[in-house]
Amino acid sequence: MSLPPLKPSTILFLLISSTTVVTWPSATAEAKRRAHFHLYMHDIVSGPNQTAWKVVPDANMSSANFGDVIIFDDPLTEGPNLTSGLLGRAQGSYSAASRTEIAFLVTMNMMFVNRKYNGSTLTVTGRNSITSPVRELPVVGGTGVFRMARGYVLWRSHKLGNVEAILELDVHVHV
Ligand SMILES: *[C@@H]1O[C@H](CO)[C@@H](O)[C@H](O)[C@H]1NC(C)=O
Ligand SMILES: *[C@@H]1O[C@H](CO)[C@@H](O)[C@H](O)[C@H]1NC(C)=O
Ligand SMILES: *[C@@H]1O[C@H](CO)[C@@H](O)[C@H](O)[C@H]1NC(C)=O
Ligand SMILES: *[C@@H]1O[C@H](CO)[C@@H](O)[C@H](O)[C@H]1NC(C)=O
Repeated sequence: MSLPPLKPSTILFLLISSTTVVTWPSATAEAKRRAHFHLYMHDIVSGPNQTAWKVVPDANMSSANFGDVIIFDDPLTEGPNLTSGLLGRAQGSYSAASRTEIAFLVTMNMMFVNRKYNGSTLTVTGRNSITSPVRELPVVGGTGVFRMARGYVLWRSHKLGNVEAILELDVHVHV
């Protein structure tokens, strides 16, 4: 038993579909889907412009503030100065989740307000051990132009003060 010969219309269909497959996705399209943002986050824990509040005090069990829960709505700016361009806000919480060192579980949404990113968000959740010079936190998703995003944040302490912690974030995403 042999297969019937292909009809011309079937051959044309196969040609079109194979062309479609070959041209998608191109290397250029792939490169365009990666993004990198360098920005600063201002975590202000006291004073008139406070942005972060301790809502659950620690359990007084260790020197690591184990059990503290802080909720925040922090500005994200282009430069380390709070008056530099506003890019968005980081909204979420961090809890001291280690009994032996100051290491937070961070859960936050970065909501952007600038240009084409206005209204789009990235969701970051991970471990932030503040004594490490560079911490890596996963970007687990996003919305708007960042729908289906995956990536990571390289998180550094730019300046730690009694009133304000300025964090330097390098956000790498693949959309
Ligand atoms: C609080 O923010 C206002 C408005 O941005 C600013 O003028 C003021 O200097 C800030 N205060 C402190 C203590 O940073
Ligand atoms: C915290 O622990 C210390 C030492 O164990 C104790 O002296 C202090 O009263 C405790 N504070 C609170 C608020 O429980
Ligand atoms: C931040 O910017 C303001 C206004 O441009 C300036 O007056 C201030 O000195 C700057 N602060 C720092 C720490 O650079
Ligand atoms: C961002 O979107 C909000 C709500 O849609 C709008 O009010 C605002 O003007 C937009 N900002 C920019 C910079 O486009």
